[in-house]
Amino acid sequence: MRILVTGSTGQLGSTLVKQLKGSDYKVKITSRRKPEGLGHFEWVYSDLSSGEGLEVAVKDVDVIIHAATSPIKNSKMVEVLAFKEFLGKMKHIKHFIYPSIVGIDEIPFKYYKHKYEAEELLNKCSIPHTIVRATQFHNFVENLFISKPLFKRYIVPGNFKFQSVDVSEFASHLISLMEKDPQGRADDFGGPDIMTLKEMAELKIKKNKESNKVLSISFPGKLYKSISEGKNTNSFRKMGKISFGEYLSNKIV
Ligand SMILES: NC(=O)c1ccc[n+]([C@@H]2O[C@H](COP(=O)([O-])OP(=O)(O)OC[C@H]3O[C@@H](n4cnc5c(N)ncnc54)[C@H](OP(=O)(O)O)[C@@H]3O)[C@@H](O)[C@H]2O)c1
Repeated sequence: MRILVTGSTGQLGSTLVKQLKGSDYKVKITSRRKPEGLGHFEWVYSDLSSGEGLEVAVKDVDVIIHAATSPIKNSKMVEVLAFKEFLGKMKHIKHFIYPSIVGIDEIPFKYYKHKYEAEELLNKCSIPHTIVRATQFHNFVENLFISKPLFKRYIVPGNFKFQSVDVSEFASHLISLMEKDPQGRADDFGGPDIMTLKEMAELKIKKNKESNKVLSISFPGKLYKSISEGKNTNSFRKMGKISFGEYLSNKIV
């Protein structure tokens, strides 16, 4: 089976590639930047926005794990318009695996709207596929909200709820899905615990023995409300085993 991993320089893509190293699969990888230290894989330059390199990337491939994404820049183009063009090049693909995000249909955020539109495009096309929604990755939550204190305070929307999951566990799950038949929409993949951002920040302070404090702030609006209500979580799908605390501990070692 020949596999293409898109977004090979990203959080998920690079983790997938590490896990596929040494496997019996023939692995091709693609992104705009060339990943370092992956000389044993065939790398192809491709840009979803311009379409450059995509024909070469998908040539002779059976399965695609699509980890390329652009949440901030050109989101509509990369997630939807160019994605539609990309799907047009996949008549020969036996299984297209699309990582998505829990709650994208309930949370009013532009990137999530675009991901939902991409899911709809997949549902309407004839390409055998699996859409699997995950909760936020541990490192994503940490980097976005609690990477650096300001004046000895982590200033966070403390009521936000996350069920963060370790990216390595989600990557393994995606690889296991390749061995199965395409499922359409698969079950969600969530982390082991649902925590508020305040609790996550406090845990980081405790684990790292920091003297910082948490300053919890709130905002008006539907986006704040939906994440505070945990629309980005799925308490029935606590699939990951590595907790946020363990993720932090592993970083300290
Ligand atoms: N992060 C999370 O917490 C989370 C949670 C659940 C699901 N997901 C989903 O998992 C997937 C991967 O997310 P991630 O966090 O790993 O993303 P990421 O770290 O931002 O990586 C994005 C990848 O996409 C590539 N890329 C960006 N623009 C491109 C373009 N125009 N053409 C080709 N490649 C492009 C980037 O590489 P170059 O810049 O080198 O091209 C990079 O390799 C996404 O579908 C995301 O929605 C993420």
